[in-house]
Amino acid sequence: MLTKKLEKVLNEQVEKEGYAAQLYLAMASWADSKGLEGISNWFYAQHMEEIQHMLKFIKYINERGGHAVVPKIDQPPREFKGVKQAFEASLEHEQMVTKSINNIVGICLEEKDFTTQNWIQWFVDEQLEEESSVQGLLDKLDLLGDGNLYLFDRDIMAMRVAGDTAV
Ligand code: FEO
Repeated sequence: MLTKKLEKVLNEQVEKEGYAAQLYLAMASWADSKGLEGISNWFYAQHMEEIQHMLKFIKYINERGGHAVVPKIDQPPREFKGVKQAFEASLEHEQMVTKSINNIVGICLEEKDFTTQNWIQWFVDEQLEEESSVQGLLDKLDLLGDGNLYLFDRDIMAMRVAGDTAV
């Protein structure tokens, strides 16, 4: 059974994962509207991953005797200044999510809920992967320079086609 404190922070995490899903969907739609097919595919796939993350939290809260509440989710930005800025915003967002997951790990220890601590370890690993994946794309963008968006778009498309999200 979850403690009230853990139920509350896990529910807050549902909302954060939901917002991440919305943010990536906004980036996907923005890139799609600019004809950046590879980049928009990458963001659409991220959107689906975040939906899965949100569902994992919802199911876990309910499984442990809590009540997962479906949250109201804020509208993400409609516009992004450029591809690099969109990936920078992604990285910043993932870093915020990592902090939030680490905070939950700390609360698991305080509350001596080692089951949840064990369960959330999957997210600790996932965050490491997500941050390094976005950082890798930013490094690639820097290497290619502003004039090579076409190449970057083609490259990122090949990554998802190969089913490889790591960079
Ligand atoms: Fe579910 Fe990208 O954090």
